[in-house]
Amino acid sequence: MTLEYRLRFVGRASEISALELLSNKGAPTPIYLYGPEGCGKSRLVREFVSYFSGLSVYVDAIEESNLSGAIMFSPILKEVLLKRSLRDVRIFIAVDDVSKVIGLGKIDLYIKWLYELLWKIRTEHKPKSILIVATTSEASSLRAIAKHSYADVRLIWNLNEVDFWKLASQLNPPSDSDVEMAWKYTGGNPRMLIDIAERYNWNIGMWMRAVRKRVEAMGVIERVKSRNLFFELRRVIEEPDEISFDLAELLIDENLLINKSALTLDDKEIEKNPDLGIGRKYAWQAPVYRYVIDQLLQIS
Ligand SMILES: Nc1ncnc2c1ncn2[C@@H]1O[C@H](COP(=O)(O)OP(=O)(O)O)[C@@H](O)[C@H]1O
Ligand SMILES: [Mg+2]
Repeated sequence: MTLEYRLRFVGRASEISALELLSNKGAPTPIYLYGPEGCGKSRLVREFVSYFSGLSVYVDAIEESNLSGAIMFSPILKEVLLKRSLRDVRIFIAVDDVSKVIGLGKIDLYIKWLYELLWKIRTEHKPKSILIVATTSEASSLRAIAKHSYADVRLIWNLNEVDFWKLASQLNPPSDSDVEMAWKYTGGNPRMLIDIAERYNWNIGMWMRAVRKRVEAMGVIERVKSRNLFFELRRVIEEPDEISFDLAELLIDENLLINKSALTLDDKEIEKNPDLGIGRKYAWQAPVYRYVIDQLLQIS
């Protein structure tokens, strides 16, 4: 059994019921679901596909170089489109991690294509309902998508504290204080939690060191210095909303920071939480980045 399914799915009840509602009614535009790397986008759409009573097509964009083909020629969709009436059928199409394959330059064209596909299926086959969801971790793709009206941009966040504990308890934590510490540094990110437990045997210090090495290798600090943004970055560690456009671009491109203006699937805003580095408009993808950047600033 893969690790993925060894770990019981936790939480996300309101996201699942929002998807349920949307897929019952059908949505007039694709949903562009973005959120921190490893926060659980893929797992959410895969779980939803497994409950879904209707016709579902899941495309793992990372494995497909031809996404149009993957959707249009997917055996189930093709069979149904050709042979059966869709009048009583609900359709759910998920394209997971879409910007990784398409590339950021063409992502808005692809989303437009999904929008046209949605309307083509709607008018030609008249299904009971259709919902298309495309996910991404590339927060820098957001501006290109948000400026058009052919996608509904939605945010998904790391797990909340209760669900984080439910996941942690499946990973044999040595003590409660280890889970508390993991919460403090991951801010509820399930991939980071699994990494801490499985790869680093709950040695959070070792895990942080590896994160620091990775951030160091990105060359963020050098670029920040060369653009005279050093002191601003210091401030932004504490208060992400006090960021200039330049620094925001840089940190968003590196998937360290995210613009969290969009609403969640269930129409909520992610609340400000200074302890976790979540501001009103911007948030660190996970609090650990604030700590390792602080360390890197001190030694630079
Ligand atoms: N709600 C959840 N319950 C249990 N495990 C989860 C949950 N969300 C994510 N995970 C696990 O965390 C890891 C990262 O999630 P994933 O869906 O791959 O993140 P993303 O697609 O946002 O990068 C995966 O191993 C996944 O199975
Ligand atoms: Mg994913």
